[in-house]
Amino acid sequence: MITRQTIDIIMAEARIEEVVGDFVHLKKSGSSYKALSPFSNEKTPSFFVSPSKGIFKDFSSGKGGNAVTFLMDHEQMTYPEALRYLAKKYNIPIEEENVSDEQKEEQNKRESLYIVNDYAQEFFQEQLLKTEAGKAIGLSYFKERGFTEETIQTFKLGYSPDEWDAFLKSAESKGYKTEYLLETGLIKERDTKKYDTYRGRVIFPIHNLSGRPIGFGARTLKTDKKIPKYLNSPESEIYHKSKIVYGIYQAKSAIVKEDNCLLVEGYTDVLALHQAGIKNVVASSGTALTEDQVRLVKRYTNNVTILYDGDPAGIKASFRGIDLILEEGMNVKVVLFPEGEDPDSFSKKLGAEELNEYISENSKDFIRFKTSVLIDEVGDDPMKRTNLIHDIVNSIALIPDHIARSIYTKECSNLLDISEKALISELNKARRKWIDKKKVERERAAERSQARQQQPDLPPPPDFIPPPSEEGPQPIEEWDREEMSPSINPAEYQEKDIVRLLLNYGNHDIQVKVLREDEDTGKEQEEEVLVSVGSFIIHDIINDDLNFLDQTYQEIFDMCTEMLEENDEINIHQLTQHESDKMRSTIADLLTEKYELHEWDKREIYVSTEDMKLQKAVQGALYSFKTKKIEHLIHENQQELKKAYSKGEDILPILEAQTQLEKVKIELSKLQGITILR
Ligand code: CTP
Ligand code: MN
Repeated sequence: MITRQTIDIIMAEARIEEVVGDFVHLKKSGSSYKALSPFSNEKTPSFFVSPSKGIFKDFSSGKGGNAVTFLMDHEQMTYPEALRYLAKKYNIPIEEENVSDEQKEEQNKRESLYIVNDYAQEFFQEQLLKTEAGKAIGLSYFKERGFTEETIQTFKLGYSPDEWDAFLKSAESKGYKTEYLLETGLIKERDTKKYDTYRGRVIFPIHNLSGRPIGFGARTLKTDKKIPKYLNSPESEIYHKSKIVYGIYQAKSAIVKEDNCLLVEGYTDVLALHQAGIKNVVASSGTALTEDQVRLVKRYTNNVTILYDGDPAGIKASFRGIDLILEEGMNVKVVLFPEGEDPDSFSKKLGAEELNEYISENSKDFIRFKTSVLIDEVGDDPMKRTNLIHDIVNSIALIPDHIARSIYTKECSNLLDISEKALISELNKARRKWIDKKKVERERAAERSQARQQQPDLPPPPDFIPPPSEEGPQPIEEWDREEMSPSINPAEYQEKDIVRLLLNYGNHDIQVKVLREDEDTGKEQEEEVLVSVGSFIIHDIINDDLNFLDQTYQEIFDMCTEMLEENDEINIHQLTQHESDKMRSTIADLLTEKYELHEWDKREIYVSTEDMKLQKAVQGALYSFKTKKIEHLIHENQQELKKAYSKGEDILPILEAQTQLEKVKIELSKLQGITILR
């Protein structure tokens, strides 16, 4: 872990205007700088950098922070990555602590693998651009396919000479260990003879999020059908195929900016679109999408557009992968290219502008798309029709948002010409099945992690296991209650919102109304006071004796409370250095996640307005948080009532509690915006 001292030095040395200035064209404006927001497409600048305060503020997206959070936001770096980047920029030596020998060795090994790949990338690039053979074979191939030098440079394309050991010899002469050359798959060994893996192929390095090559795809230039078209790096300690998508490093900023990620099939599709100016594009590299890949993309956007070439078999094969995306609650659209065209060929035919137009005009919602593809082949066959309905319903059932689900249900009822009621009943069955399946999966995962470590992730509190449902299919509105299965936290969003406000705005001051008892007259009086968001939230929640269901959020809340008590300030740097990986990543997510204060007015960029919005956001978040808690208590109480009633027990006390809770709920809504000081 990077030491506190090093972090302090980095924070002191880093000049916000220099750090931001490397990525954004800044214009001096008084004592600060302004620019067009790098996080959205805008025409009038609303992005500000204040050197004296060391912060940036982007009024169009609501983002703001210091040099480190800028790098996290804009370059999608992790916290340690941002620190290392700054240390390098300002020539600050990094001191680390708490690294065991074992960890050190592991780190060294990983670092060695990276270094070997760095070298290989450089070697292949040099071969492509500087050698006769490279230019004549590799470079002319890329040129023929229409790739510019800029594209070749951006993606660090290369060429591996058509010799048995050109790379091996070069790497050995530089002292790279054979062990690492073998593990990265750059060379192979047969009968003690070692040789280059990618002989005579053009090279596509695969980069991780910080732009380091972790693997390679190598395409043959021969048309011989018997040799594989692509050779890809084997899995290694630094390369996990299922966890990365090709092009993410070059695409991530554009994905955030466009709030959409285009998904294509292959390396060359990524290159072609990028070159045509469509930079928010990645490839799954020929395989079905994995959950980890979907999650990776989800870090940057909630919207995915899949670009298909019009081959029906291929389209159908991909439906399963797309279900994964739906399951993550992401919006999936589909663009179908004319038969025989892939994004690569089509971009060449149309040119950048027309291609862009084609994509935006032809993107279709996935569920609608799937229905229309399948409906064509069903015809009048009733068996096939039933299967189709199940198929579609199963996809809809994966969508976490129940409003989205009911919209699709309506639409499919029209498309499939089947009553909405029948669809809903099917949907409820599918949903229940899915929830059960997830439950089993979660239990298995919990068992595994319990077996792996002494301290597993804390299980959800037992009182959140839903009562077994005896009723048959329920109306659509009932789903949300159904979903209170273990580890699905009904107050997830509300709790997250609170913690997010604490972390992002905890040290900002807001003006709030409070009710205070006048000491002399004993009358309650409304008063406006200035308090920090952090102390306001914490005061309010502790006052009402409320807890978080999510253990991580609770822990963050507790740490913030402690910091405020001790130093009157929430120290984000300290939090982002927490010893637990999970905690660090949660905190960093909360700090980086696109977060706009509700109803932020894009044109009003006066500080007073910002304060008002913040005040509203804080009070709104507290209100929803409390309402959710009350609603949950009411729900639980109702269940108890049902149970007591069916057993013939005394229900009066439960009814009384119910009335009490309902009252609190009403009180809460009356008091919205006012806090009672006790
Ligand atoms: N692929 C692979 N091995 C193969 C064929 C394909 O790994 N034998 C993967 C590659 O990641 C490739 C993707 O599947 O990028 C799509 O395949 P294809 O369309 O054949 O390749 P392109 O990269 O589009 O290359 P090209 O246009 O040169 O044919
Ligand atoms: Mn292709």
